[in-house]
Amino acid sequence: MKHRAVKRRSVVIGIGATAGVAAVGGIALSAQASTGTSASGPGTLTFDPEAYTKKTITITTADGSEKDVVYHFWAPITYVTSPVDTDHQTLVVSVPVEIDGKAVDASNAPIVFANEVGGYFPATVKDATGVGQATMEMSGGAPPAGGASGAPSGLPSTGASPGDDGSANDMTDAAGGRVSLPQLALAAGFVVVEPGCRGRTLTDSAGNYYGTAPAAIVDLKAAVRYIRFNKGRIPGNTERIVSTGTSAGGALSALLGASGDSRIYDKYLKAAGAADASDAIFASADWCPITDLEHADGAYEYCWGTSVTQTTGKGVDQTVSKDLRTLFAEHQAALKLRGLNGFGALTARNYDQYLLTTYLQPAATTYLASLSDSARTTYLAKNTFITWKGGRATFTWDDYVTHVGARKKDAPAFDAFDLSAGENNEFGKDTTEARHFTAYGLEHDTTGLGAKRLDSDIPEKLNLMNPMYHIGRENPGRARHWWLRVGTNDTDSSPVIVANLAAALHGLGDDVNSLMYWDQGHGSNTDPGDFIAWISKVSGHRK
Ligand code: DHB
Repeated sequence: MKHRAVKRRSVVIGIGATAGVAAVGGIALSAQASTGTSASGPGTLTFDPEAYTKKTITITTADGSEKDVVYHFWAPITYVTSPVDTDHQTLVVSVPVEIDGKAVDASNAPIVFANEVGGYFPATVKDATGVGQATMEMSGGAPPAGGASGAPSGLPSTGASPGDDGSANDMTDAAGGRVSLPQLALAAGFVVVEPGCRGRTLTDSAGNYYGTAPAAIVDLKAAVRYIRFNKGRIPGNTERIVSTGTSAGGALSALLGASGDSRIYDKYLKAAGAADASDAIFASADWCPITDLEHADGAYEYCWGTSVTQTTGKGVDQTVSKDLRTLFAEHQAALKLRGLNGFGALTARNYDQYLLTTYLQPAATTYLASLSDSARTTYLAKNTFITWKGGRATFTWDDYVTHVGARKKDAPAFDAFDLSAGENNEFGKDTTEARHFTAYGLEHDTTGLGAKRLDSDIPEKLNLMNPMYHIGRENPGRARHWWLRVGTNDTDSSPVIVANLAAALHGLGDDVNSLMYWDQGHGSNTDPGDFIAWISKVSGHRK
């Protein structure tokens, strides 16, 4: 297995939050025609198989080899009949027809549904003229002041990186080369659909936040419904939709997988004008999902409670951290999850050992085994906390936490007392930019709210945004194939979040492929080739 480190790059475009949107009576309405040239604009959800442009692209694949791909590209298509924002409620489709001079028939190929959401910001394909050009928008609503995660802290907050064309799923390997998941999927012969969707910073001219929860998941579901509604017209196998996403996009991808055909979205999908079709997907691939938000503060303190923060170099308030760890222990016990590989019940008492034996030590082992003897010797000399014996790495939890070093976020990491976290904005409503979504956050509010209770709509919004809600209910419409990944140095959230997702899904009998990337940070993806092979395997696709 060749390792190719893939890091998410900054993708920033500077469009205003209200572009293309006018408000009438507090309701955001599209003020411009569909950005696409396709005949399938608002009002009709019928995909036009002829409305493509022929394109060519040379794609560097995960093993470093190049592939020349001829493909058909459908410019932005609005996927709902009542769009409130055609800059975001559109998708693009790419279908390979020739790879390295050989004709390809993708009419029954898996459909890779690659969202480009980051930071719960909006994502758009409005300017896409080819595969892998969706962009996440970090502009529109300056991140609130404060040390927490107004901007997704794992992503550069300003400027595009050198050589970066601002494209979708923009990732860069260790050597500075560019790897794009949508492009890799196209080069593998798969159909690629890239959806835009609303995000938390969008406001209409009356100041209403119309992209906060659950807008993003409603849009992604509507886009899936559009695909399934167009079975037989849109190329690809609509029963083999494989969703991908990273970070907030990974959270939405996990949610899409867990919540297939759940009725709790009905009223939102109806209001959006989504197609009358299933929104269930076949498989869900989720890198470092920033999810289970209402429990993430506790999980964060469980892992990183003793670490200093990057911004201050100081330890966090231990009273807060301990409170949150207690909440974690209670919640973890209530989940009644069992670990992989026959580990038994997962609790706050044994979760550190579980992470070590199931994920962290195997991740280090894989990494060290991939090194040359001399490189391994050098690494081990620098990292004496690791014992390397019989081709296996072992170390203690405390040494692992020390090795990771400073944590990215303050405590609480997600429901910030001063409402400064991006997630506070994600739960904003109407003209209120940011709200608390945990009782603990509200209790310790420092913004002078004086509220005794969370707003009454918050519990429903949390369920709408949490894959664990649907998994806990054994949702029959959920995806049955899961690819879960996170870097062992990622302190944007807690490794517990991914491990709990994997354990819960495994407990339901789903096919779960979960591992962690040793020494990798937020947004890393070091096995894109394995992922492409996994899609072929689980979907039964033969070229
Ligand atoms: C992302 C990162 C975060 O730290 C967060 O809180 C939410 C989202 C992201 O990279 O998408």
